[in-house]
Amino acid sequence: MNIIIVSDYEEVSKKAAEFVTDHMKSNPEIVLGLATGSTPEGLYRLIVEEYRAGGLDFSEVKTFNLDEYVGLGPEHRQSYRNYMGRHLFDHVNIDPDNINVPEGLASDPAAHSRRYEREIESCGGIDLQVLGIGRDGHIGFNEPGSSLRSRTRVVVLAAETIEDNARFFASMDEVPRFAISMGLGTISEARHCLMLASGEHKAEAVRECIEGAVTSMVPASVLQMHPQTTVLIDEAAASRLTRKDYYRAVQKGREKIVKLTGKEDVFNADQDG
Ligand code: PGA
Repeated sequence: MNIIIVSDYEEVSKKAAEFVTDHMKSNPEIVLGLATGSTPEGLYRLIVEEYRAGGLDFSEVKTFNLDEYVGLGPEHRQSYRNYMGRHLFDHVNIDPDNINVPEGLASDPAAHSRRYEREIESCGGIDLQVLGIGRDGHIGFNEPGSSLRSRTRVVVLAAETIEDNARFFASMDEVPRFAISMGLGTISEARHCLMLASGEHKAEAVRECIEGAVTSMVPASVLQMHPQTTVLIDEAAASRLTRKDYYRAVQKGREKIVKLTGKEDVFNADQDG
């Protein structure tokens, strides 16, 4: 894992936007895996700004979102398809045919999940997957206990997640209990992963993800097995890490070697993945 600690949420968003735009510029036909939630909102805002400034082209970009609530259609404001429209898709020149979000209203969600996997495969796999992390260590909606090799499927949301999501719904009864989510196996096959976290309330999940054991009890810990994962977090989210000084030294060292060799890809581990 490449761990980058920055001062605050704004810096997380800025660095994340640089990371994503760099990847987009070097591969105009990139297949992006996208996440929803509060964390990537700043990233999408900056990407839209960069697009408006003329620096980005989405015409050949394909996207796959991590997850969607079962029972919510694109018109529902709390659906993730709706979120993606408001925060990104409605503001850039992406071809609607290239947008993939699991369908919350699919009549056969299990068959739909299998089709979603095939669609990812037929696009050549995901080049860069953006991730948030839940307080319970979930990525996508892979809750604790999810198989580390799980694929896109229907999942039951954990009580903690339902509680965290309640703020977006008028009443507890309206909060969805099920979702369709890419699996941990699906996410693990992305060529690069970029996980973002901000705030003290994420500090314990971040610590377990980076410094704990690889376990299905902390689904994000599966990223320890991934050859090309960058974890981009602010000081508050990093506050429980025990080896912060080392991660900072690594960061400095990486910058030094890139400068010394003149090779931006000196840490590119693609040949391993
Ligand atoms: P958040 O959610 O960005 O709204 O904190 C992250 C997640 O649960 O994956």
